[in-house]
Amino acid sequence: MPRVFSGIQPTGEPHIGNYFGAMQNYVKLGDLYGKNSIYCVVDLHALTSPTAFDRQLLAQRTFDMALANFAVGLDPQKVTFFVQSHVPEHQELSWIFTNLTPVGELERMTQYKDKSEQLESVPSGLLMYPVLMAADILLYKADTVPVGEDQTQHIELTREIARKFNHAFGETFPEPKAEYNRQALRIPGVDGNGKMGKSKGETSTLGLLEPLDAIWQKLRVAPTDPARVRRTDPGDPDKCLIGDYHKLFSDLPTIDLVYQGCRTAGIGCVDCKKLLMKGVTEHLTPIQDRAETLRQDPDFVRDALVQGAREARAIAAPIMDEVRTKVGFLKLG
Ligand code: TYM
Repeated sequence: MPRVFSGIQPTGEPHIGNYFGAMQNYVKLGDLYGKNSIYCVVDLHALTSPTAFDRQLLAQRTFDMALANFAVGLDPQKVTFFVQSHVPEHQELSWIFTNLTPVGELERMTQYKDKSEQLESVPSGLLMYPVLMAADILLYKADTVPVGEDQTQHIELTREIARKFNHAFGETFPEPKAEYNRQALRIPGVDGNGKMGKSKGETSTLGLLEPLDAIWQKLRVAPTDPARVRRTDPGDPDKCLIGDYHKLFSDLPTIDLVYQGCRTAGIGCVDCKKLLMKGVTEHLTPIQDRAETLRQDPDFVRDALVQGAREARAIAAPIMDEVRTKVGFLKLG
């Protein structure tokens, strides 16, 4: 049976990019593979973000990220769901992997380049980020990793680290593959400024748990195809992020209607956005209702995370033991 692993950073509210790009696949693969699908709120990774050094905020966001994943339909009784820092083996394996990974290779990672460019002083954790990610995945010998397209390079590096380890110490790890949602490889930000991302702030994101009227305020002013200057100008829905969002939220007749309408100037952008908002409301209302119910029962989330860490460690511990032996750490007894 395949073993699935994925992680999500508690660096801000989960948004629809996370949801369609990755979380929906967590649920789908969870239904297929049960406890063999392992998901993790990666709080150690979040420390690489400049805003992370806020004790209360990190803990709160970690809790909220778990809650959001349960609200979209991940059942902690069925899958394995935990917080990364609760399983210290992630860091131990990561350290071993840093010694198989040339600095030059890490410096070439596009996410590292993008993020480090904006910083005056770059924490070395940011450079090591993909090594820790490889450790997350390989600690469970996972072979399937549901992620958005932006993680492709990191998964490639994970494969390479697995190959290097196997070559140096004997066959141990599988070479994991990314699993994408082909309809949601890279969801654009609502500000029209590239990919939607937690780290880009609230102007970029449509939060999964964001109040619907706040979502509407963002959609209302969101940029559309710049060729449509006047209501009577035809547009190209493939060049419009509202068109992209319709493909995620609307049913086929609505998509046909707005795509045709846009091309023939039969529908204005405001009406097109209102139709989108209908789909958004239908999608997000049940998720937000479930999140509200979970908020009333914080012990459910806490107990699930305690149990999840226990389950994760039970898988990780023997694998880490195998690694220690293969690497040659002294064993006493
Ligand atoms: P993070 O927290 O940035 O994002 C979580 C998941 O959401 C996907 N995603 C998107 N997909 C489509 N369109 C978007 N605009 C969009 N924005 C985000 C991401 O690809 C990701 O799958 N490095 C990971 C966290 C991580 C991890 C791991 C993932 C740590 N260890 C091990 C898999 C396996 C990250 O930054 O996720």
